[in-house]
Amino acid sequence: MDNRPIGFFDSGLGGLTCIPYLLKALPRERITYFGDTARTPYGSKTAATIRKFASEIADFLIESQDVKMVAIACNTVSAIALDDLRQRHPKVPILGIISPAAHTAARGCAPENRIGVIGTKATIASGAYTKKILGENPALDIYGQACPAFVPLIEEGIIQNHIMDLTIRYYLDQFIDYNEIDTLVLGCTHYPLIRKNITKLYPGLRIIDPSEEILTSIDDALTRRGLHAEEASGTAPEAEHVFYASDLSENFVNMINLIFSGTGYRVAFRNFDLEAYIERKR
Ligand code: DGL
Repeated sequence: MDNRPIGFFDSGLGGLTCIPYLLKALPRERITYFGDTARTPYGSKTAATIRKFASEIADFLIESQDVKMVAIACNTVSAIALDDLRQRHPKVPILGIISPAAHTAARGCAPENRIGVIGTKATIASGAYTKKILGENPALDIYGQACPAFVPLIEEGIIQNHIMDLTIRYYLDQFIDYNEIDTLVLGCTHYPLIRKNITKLYPGLRIIDPSEEILTSIDDALTRRGLHAEEASGTAPEAEHVFYASDLSENFVNMINLIFSGTGYRVAFRNFDLEAYIERKR
């Protein structure tokens, strides 16, 4: 048993799409989340930059927040920096988001299925989904499509409207039609926020959502290592989730309020660059 929080992080608010699944299945667990809203999006940046940002956040969660596990709620970081982070922090379990969803796709699809993976430029260029899926089921056909405009629009709250619908059609109409895609992996944790738009535009598609799939691997890792949180006793203080952001954008705060709509959490500001800048000016 271990009552320390589970650390989650993403470039912004996308990783929050994992949280409702976790709280529903494992309500005793406490979360410390970090959204790098000041530096989002990651997906069009170079691997070196993504690795630097990811290691700063992992250091913060592990060394100053004492999390018992880190769940990388970001496909881009999982594709580019997972091995680095594991080498940097060998004693703490660090879970990527790509393997569990790739496993679901590999296990749940037959050779006649045609799988599309959408994600950031970095995720699609890495080929991480294709490698993982084919590693388990080499008979499958997989096609990738980078959709770099989705994340900035979602971070701006441009979601349920025709601008988003047009942007989705710009990236996906031809991709889905030409490749005859019937199964779509939402390979970026921001994309579940536009899942309704996608299913409205392409009603027959089967969707695989990594934000949901990572839950199984978190639960398994907690069980294997005996790290589940204890049942709260009547006198135990109410568990508090903490959501850090490197820039407290209105959308980030609104999204958290939407997920929780009650008490039991707090939002906090933490910006490594700004702190270093202030320190230099002293
Ligand atoms: N939500 C992230 C992902 O899953 C990152 C998107 C971005 O910052 O470009 O890839």
